[in-house]
Amino acid sequence: MSEVVTESVGASDRKRSVLWSYAVFLTVIVPIALAVVFYRVDPFDPAELPLHELAQQDLVVPRVNDRLLHGSEFIGSGQMLGPEDIAFEPESGVIYTGCADGWVKRVKVNDSVSDSVVENWVYTGGRPLGLVLGLNNEVIVADAFKGLLNLSRNGNMELLTDEVEGRKLKFADGVDVAKDGMIYFTEASYKYDLSGFIWDVFEGKPHGSLMSFDPTTRRTKVLVRNLYFPNGVQVSPDQKSVIFCETVMRRCKKYIREGEREGSVDMFVDNLVGVPDNIRYDGEEHYWIAFSTSVKPYWDIAFKYPLVRKILAIVTRYIGRPQMEKNGGLLAIDMEGKPIAHYYDPKLSMISGGNKIGRHLYIGFLHHPYIMRLNLDQHAAS
Ligand SMILES: *[C@@H]1O[C@H](CO)[C@@H](O)[C@H](O)[C@H]1NC(C)=O
Ligand SMILES: *[C@@H]1O[C@H](CO)[C@@H](O)[C@H](O)[C@H]1NC(C)=O
Repeated sequence: MSEVVTESVGASDRKRSVLWSYAVFLTVIVPIALAVVFYRVDPFDPAELPLHELAQQDLVVPRVNDRLLHGSEFIGSGQMLGPEDIAFEPESGVIYTGCADGWVKRVKVNDSVSDSVVENWVYTGGRPLGLVLGLNNEVIVADAFKGLLNLSRNGNMELLTDEVEGRKLKFADGVDVAKDGMIYFTEASYKYDLSGFIWDVFEGKPHGSLMSFDPTTRRTKVLVRNLYFPNGVQVSPDQKSVIFCETVMRRCKKYIREGEREGSVDMFVDNLVGVPDNIRYDGEEHYWIAFSTSVKPYWDIAFKYPLVRKILAIVTRYIGRPQMEKNGGLLAIDMEGKPIAHYYDPKLSMISGGNKIGRHLYIGFLHHPYIMRLNLDQHAAS
């Protein structure tokens, strides 16, 4: 009797261990083998980033408000999608912003924010990103798909340029205009357009340029090549240089416009705590750099290791892009590039642009359906 029992226990043990092996095979070995095959076969080939070029010490910001959402107001909720950059016209009190639906909108902000008026102004048919007021009351737009556009006061749209060096622009991004009329803009990538921007970020190769468009000669010129996703552009108030931000290398550089060093490029601010998008001058000795996300914890690792970016690319292609963005915000720096104040919130991401207008900080987003603003008198960083 006891022998029979032992035997049947032994048999069910064996059965269990066979089933167990199958289970391990199916849930562990097969997925790992598939992952290795996918990894090997996938042609996506991310590069090492030149992170050694970055300052090695952390950027220390003297004043911080890490609860940017606290006290913030929302303008035009639901009446706009993805107001990427913000251009303010003091005479009319109107904010111009480019949206994901292809409209450049005019926003008349009312102190009772729910009474603010949002108007569809000009439809570009593309994706207006950077925008700035020109010297003749026009609005100059860097449209990701259409190129550089001139929207005249009465709402006419004129193409300024959509090509350079005999090829089409792929991804116009940030723009600014100097007092002598010269227009500066970035092409974030010549390889990927806006819809594929994440591949450019994952790939980590310098596909971008800073360019100029001269309205008198109508010539488009590459000023600086081999940039890592150049994004926001801002002419310095003394007109001597053009500041531009390189998103993937999380730094902003300075292109010298005049004098003996004309054409050279200096570092302006380095090793930023976030991934920079637009940069705007507030007329009060500060630039405001928008961060779509903080670098830590996820992006830091991704930027360091091409292998991690390749895995992210595969996951993004077959499953969907993991949510890696948090702590979106804005950093104020002074004229020398020294950090002054950092406004952010763990719950915010994809902040794309902003500026201080009057006593408020106005904030634009790549995807969110509103402009946010914060009263800086009441919620100053400390
Ligand atoms: C703000 O909205 C109120 C109510 O609609 C209106 O009476 C007022 O004129 C507006 N103020 C400005 C500055 O537009
Ligand atoms: C934009 O168009 C307006 C109206 O035609 C013109 O006055 C202005 O000079 C143009 N701006 C540029 C930069 O070409």
